[in-house]
Amino acid sequence: MSKEFWEQRYQTRDMPWEKGEPSPGLVDFLAAHRGLPGETACVPGGGTGHDALEWAKAGFRVYGYDIAPSAVQLSAGRARAAGLRAEFRLADFLRDEPPFAFDWIFEHTLFCAIQPDERELYVRAVRRWLKPGGHYLAVNYLIPDTDGPPFGTTREEIVQRFSPFLELKSDWVPRSYPNRAGLERMFWWRR
Ligand SMILES: C[S@@+](CC[C@H](N)C(=O)[O-])C[C@H]1O[C@@H](n2cnc3c(N)ncnc32)[C@H](O)[C@@H]1O
Repeated sequence: MSKEFWEQRYQTRDMPWEKGEPSPGLVDFLAAHRGLPGETACVPGGGTGHDALEWAKAGFRVYGYDIAPSAVQLSAGRARAAGLRAEFRLADFLRDEPPFAFDWIFEHTLFCAIQPDERELYVRAVRRWLKPGGHYLAVNYLIPDTDGPPFGTTREEIVQRFSPFLELKSDWVPRSYPNRAGLERMFWWRR
């Protein structure tokens, strides 16, 4: 979907993905794993910044990226209001070059937001933005929908796309927002 499409969704406040809080699966992951390795975290398609700020609270130097200018502005305002340090920048994760390679990339409803025929571009972007030895943590949305966004996926597709260059450390069903309970799966990959 285009930059204009996403910006319009923010301008008209048509943003049902915005839950006013970070991904419950991410909150639980960070609480359960204190002292994770690495210093930098990238949150692509980060929306209004809830997830990026959770990484900041966990002590990471975090960069949130979004293709919609309004999302970047809302995120920066949220960080200021919370007194947290995080960089929010405008970028197309699929096509742009990273400023440097990250220790962590956190996925949450970006993979399901792009056109399915852009998924190979997404996989290549993870390779480009992630350090060798880095971690890719994803909350994937396992719904059957083909008329998105959101566009669904399956565990099989995720494993098939990422396992050629990442090692799957573990995957599990996380705690979710009420309307997504049982529909999400988290994957913890290492490059
Ligand atoms: C469904 S929303 C999810 C936002 C956030 N991750 C959340 O869960 O609240 C998808 C987000 O990805 C952004 N986006 C879409 N395509 C993108 C791209 N190619 N690069 C960066 N951000 C993108 C949209 O502007 C939107 O903010």
